[in-house]
Amino acid sequence: MKFHLKVWRQKDANAPGTLENYEADNIPDDASFLEMLDIVNANLTGKNIEPIQFDSDCREGICGSCSLTINGVPHGPGRGTTCQVYMRKFKDGDTITIEPFRAEAFPVQRDLVVDRCAFDRVIQAGGYISERCGSAPDANSVPISKVIADEAMDAAACIGCGACAAACPNGSAMLFVSAKVTHLGLLPQGKPENGRRVIGMVRQMDEEGFGNCSNYYACEAVCPASVPAAFIGRMNREFTAASVKEIIGMNV
Ligand code: FES
Repeated sequence: MKFHLKVWRQKDANAPGTLENYEADNIPDDASFLEMLDIVNANLTGKNIEPIQFDSDCREGICGSCSLTINGVPHGPGRGTTCQVYMRKFKDGDTITIEPFRAEAFPVQRDLVVDRCAFDRVIQAGGYISERCGSAPDANSVPISKVIADEAMDAAACIGCGACAAACPNGSAMLFVSAKVTHLGLLPQGKPENGRRVIGMVRQMDEEGFGNCSNYYACEAVCPASVPAAFIGRMNREFTAASVKEIIGMNV
């Protein structure tokens, strides 16, 4: 297969970026999107041209490192991560535009690489259980209903890739934060810290420059883990309740 690529090239975080044209020739239709870029980069390197910089790690849809906007859609066509997109999804001869994830809180570092440390700082602000839980107890010793366990697992499926923030017109991270708040907050080990957690994470999210939920549901549409936007409503309720407690001087 053959493709015409328009790729965002940017020397560093402070330099202006631009779309540059490249040809991707002799691409097998079973190549993944990242493998296609590997082939293009091998050709560029052979011509002494700086290869296109992009992030990847597991290439199995697990780590959330790959962060390309393909034809305007974070992670591109289909419901998976960039590394799970295969070139057979495109037509031979297609023009494909490749940009980094676009969100104010994810500054571009170089070419297609963005800095997503803002997500790490949001997690540091409360996305954990600080109690020492000891070793894993026998599964049957902590009864959890199937409904709650399923909902917590749906939330825990978030891989923190950032596609939600990149898809949102407001650059909102509320799907990501609500997934973390929900998966920890639904389970007995996480419940005692629910108030402190949601207040800490939401305030850090605001501080990082992520916007409010736009109610477009674009986040849900591109989420490779199918995290539902309904978790945002749950997070807002928990944040409101914890904030009221804080205002009247109760422990949160
Ligand atoms: S490289 Fe790990 S999810 Fe794509």
